[in-house]
Amino acid sequence: MKNSFKLANGTQIPAIGFGTYKIPDGEDAYNSVKEALACGYRHIDTASLYGNEESVGRAIRDSGIAREDIWVTSKVWDDDQGYEKAKASIENSLKRLDIGYIDLMLIHWPIPEGFEGDWAELNLSTWRAFEEAYKEGKLRAIGVSNFMPKHLKPLLAKCEIAPMVNQMEIHPTYPQKETVDFCQNRGIVMEAWAPLGRAQDLEDPTINAVAAIYNKTPAQICLRWAYQHGIVTLPKSTHVERIRDNRKIFDFEIHKNEMELLDSLPDDKRISRHPDNLPR
Ligand SMILES: NC(=O)c1ccc[n+]([C@@H]2O[C@H](COP(=O)([O-])OP(=O)(O)OC[C@H]3O[C@@H](n4cnc5c(N)ncnc54)[C@H](OP(=O)(O)O)[C@@H]3O)[C@@H](O)[C@H]2O)c1
Repeated sequence: MKNSFKLANGTQIPAIGFGTYKIPDGEDAYNSVKEALACGYRHIDTASLYGNEESVGRAIRDSGIAREDIWVTSKVWDDDQGYEKAKASIENSLKRLDIGYIDLMLIHWPIPEGFEGDWAELNLSTWRAFEEAYKEGKLRAIGVSNFMPKHLKPLLAKCEIAPMVNQMEIHPTYPQKETVDFCQNRGIVMEAWAPLGRAQDLEDPTINAVAAIYNKTPAQICLRWAYQHGIVTLPKSTHVERIRDNRKIFDFEIHKNEMELLDSLPDDKRISRHPDNLPR
């Protein structure tokens, strides 16, 4: 499939998806997702936490686009970690979305080291529910989110089916190179959440200079930079022109010099939580 990446189980994930975090349930989420689908997005990223799965599902059902042509990701939230709760959470997401199956389910955040009980076992018991739902055909692919190598290693040591995806905060000023290399060397496809650095990277002078060279927007440069590193991006916007323009990244290529320039930006501009430091 064009403009997609292949997961370890052979399924193709569209390289750019539409993010829906903080888009309120109801008409906002319904209209944004319909707009994104009309603009050509075929990949929608939601989560039980976002509270908008019902509207996302309704927009997909009403779109007139064949179900198999749309990739839908959801996530199991922190409170639902552990086999039984994760199993119920997956069922609830399936019900709320009401689109037959879910293409990709992720553990939203790892249980971090130092958390009460055996954190690695708790992540693994959630994963057992994922493996089961995957084998039953309810999920087309399974993965994790915000897992650093230290969270992945114990899971990889004991899982039956390895995570196919890891979704992390990644943008040019926070590239998370160590985790990206760890995952890509093991056939785990990386996804970038906050691929625009929640709009903060759009102010960066180097990114703006590269955008001027290619006659593209700073957002398109951030998204194309990630694509050229083999990373799926999930830009979010509630503005139609931005939704449309953000996906126009397949008609140009950032050359080596400018990629090196972007790769040499200060790499410490994290804009959200660190996986070790969860408010629970
Ligand atoms: N797994 C996780 O833990 C996790 C965490 C956070 C997010 N996510 C997923 O990743 C998606 C994206 O992350 P995000 O929403 O945090 O950040 P983002 O996509 O990097 O940035 C969104 C912000 O950028 C603005 N924006 C979008 N396109 C723009 C453009 N072309 N020009 C100027 N501003 C633009 C948006 O404003 P407007 O809406 O006003 O256009 C919004 O304020 C989420 O929606 C969610 O699906 C996952």
